[in-house]
Amino acid sequence: MRKPFVAGNWKMNGSSASIKTLVGGILDGMGRVKNAEVVVCPSFVYLSEVAQLLAGSAVEFGSQDVAKEESGAYTGEVAVSMLKDMACKYAIIGHSERRAYYGDTDEIVAEKFIAAQKGGLTPILCVGELLEEREAGQTEAVVERQLQAVVGRAGIRALESAVIAYEPVWAIGTGKTASPEQAQAVHAFIRQWMSKEDSAVAEKVQILYGGSVKAANANELFSQTDIDGGLIGGASLSAEEFISICEAAG
Ligand code: 13P
Repeated sequence: MRKPFVAGNWKMNGSSASIKTLVGGILDGMGRVKNAEVVVCPSFVYLSEVAQLLAGSAVEFGSQDVAKEESGAYTGEVAVSMLKDMACKYAIIGHSERRAYYGDTDEIVAEKFIAAQKGGLTPILCVGELLEEREAGQTEAVVERQLQAVVGRAGIRALESAVIAYEPVWAIGTGKTASPEQAQAVHAFIRQWMSKEDSAVAEKVQILYGGSVKAANANELFSQTDIDGGLIGGASLSAEEFISICEAAG
């Protein structure tokens, strides 16, 4: 059985004060979460603060991106080794906002994925189609291309120590959630695609859904066979909402 997994992607939100309140609320609510792995991904600047606030708890944390280079003259970038130094466990890689606004191509995403794993972080690899791609019937082809870019370089076994997040771009921050059936269909496709290469890996990898997940729709989404949890944006900024989502995951 795959362990349920819920990660909060705080994106570029928060302040020292608001993060303290948010983490406090999450820790207070953790008694309601039975089995799910709970992860929060703050902005880089708050990682060490979050690390301190979470110390000794069951909640893990991750970054929202990593540099593909190990170290050196890369102004503004954050190395995997620095994140490890902060006791960071996960790294979101290839989020659609990085792909759309910061030039993260499939190749760069694959390099970042490999760098994260090499340095000991577990990548949360994001894939997902644009609205026009869905409307053109290209959802599966797009997701396959994004996965293949990583698997072609890192090998299928690399996914064994990674988490995949399917995030249809049209559902992110729009309040327009994919229906449980639409999400399940793509999750099943991803699992079948992996199982063509390695069925044990396909069975093992957690596949999260992301895109306007809220407490009100989490149950229905998470009850789908191939949906193992969620990557939560807006709703992860409220402790009550986020904990309710984690509770729904299990
Ligand atoms: P929303 O939950 O705000 O739609 O964001 C989803 C997301 O991008 C998580 O990475």
